[in-house]
Amino acid sequence: MSASVEIRAAAEALRAAQLVGFPTETVYGLGADATNPEALHRLYAAKGRPADHPVIVHLGERAGLDPGALEDWAADVSPAARRLAEHWWPGPLTLVVRAADRVSRVATGGLDTVGLRVPAHPIALELLAEFDGGIAAPSANRFGRVSPTTASAVSAEFGDELAIVLDGGPCAVGVESTIVDCTGSHPAVLRPGAVTAEMIGELLGVPPRIGGSTRAPGTLASHYAPLARVELVDPSELEPRLAALRGGGQRIGVLEWRSDVSESERGRPSAGRADSVVTLATVRTTAEYAHELYSALRKADECGVDLILAVVPPLDGVGAAVVDRLRRAASDR
Ligand code: TXA
Ligand code: MG
Repeated sequence: MSASVEIRAAAEALRAAQLVGFPTETVYGLGADATNPEALHRLYAAKGRPADHPVIVHLGERAGLDPGALEDWAADVSPAARRLAEHWWPGPLTLVVRAADRVSRVATGGLDTVGLRVPAHPIALELLAEFDGGIAAPSANRFGRVSPTTASAVSAEFGDELAIVLDGGPCAVGVESTIVDCTGSHPAVLRPGAVTAEMIGELLGVPPRIGGSTRAPGTLASHYAPLARVELVDPSELEPRLAALRGGGQRIGVLEWRSDVSESERGRPSAGRADSVVTLATVRTTAEYAHELYSALRKADECGVDLILAVVPPLDGVGAAVVDRLRRAASDR
């Protein structure tokens, strides 16, 4: 199969130490050649990311299937890490493992461990196959800001700093990959995502630990932050809170949970609310919440919203990851 003109141009740009925006199933990535320090320095500069914060290295499909391909990047792969990779790659799961010597310590933020993932998006996989190497890629947003889930959000954030932005449509999952630290004796979930701790526990036969002391900016208290303030509310508190804020002169955006709403009613303003209230998203499931979360936060900033009231979803499935991101977005800066 021959790659499209855009994919070939993007692979060419990566070889020339340039930056490329590309879709994954979670969020859009800002890609650079993971073995080229010049490209990596450019990546950190564009993102405004401190040099000691590691980025994820994305690998092609072969790494999920062929143990040899993984060992190009990882110095030792525990049986648990191998099982997780075999089961979920390509997919929204990043494994932190000991880095092989050849992995640039610019990409690892100076650590001797590296985060690896095979993304489940046809365009990302085509690009990885065409480039035939590892692509270092943080989410394609400036440090601390909301991750992009569309190509236009990437272009809006970086403009002509990027050689090309590949458009793969809106990201299916919508929140970043689950990160599992596999360097210790017992796997630990460093960042929740669509692959849940329960799913990992079921596969491995033992529940993973939650959290860890590794340097991960996605785990900083304040991250994923829009310009507007974010306040979390229980579903039953939303209308009373809106009533209390009425007439206060603030423009308010709501992210609401309504399991009873039909597809055609979604996004329509709820009756009885003030004109100063903008419906940012109406979601019915945790998967819909994850899918719409970041575009809703971006929409709030575009609409000049002062305060976002975000309903707390149930914690099942990707709900735990949504709550994790909402808490960080709501955290004091
Ligand atoms: O879904 C995703 O993971 C997206 C897409 C583009 O793949 N990428 C992403 O990258 O969210 P980024 O850089 O925004 O977040 C990566 C997280 C950071 O919190 C980083 O610190 C952590 O992964 N990480 C990477 N390597 C690590 C390592 N060796 N040890 C601990 N944490 C690591
Ligand atoms: Mg990020």
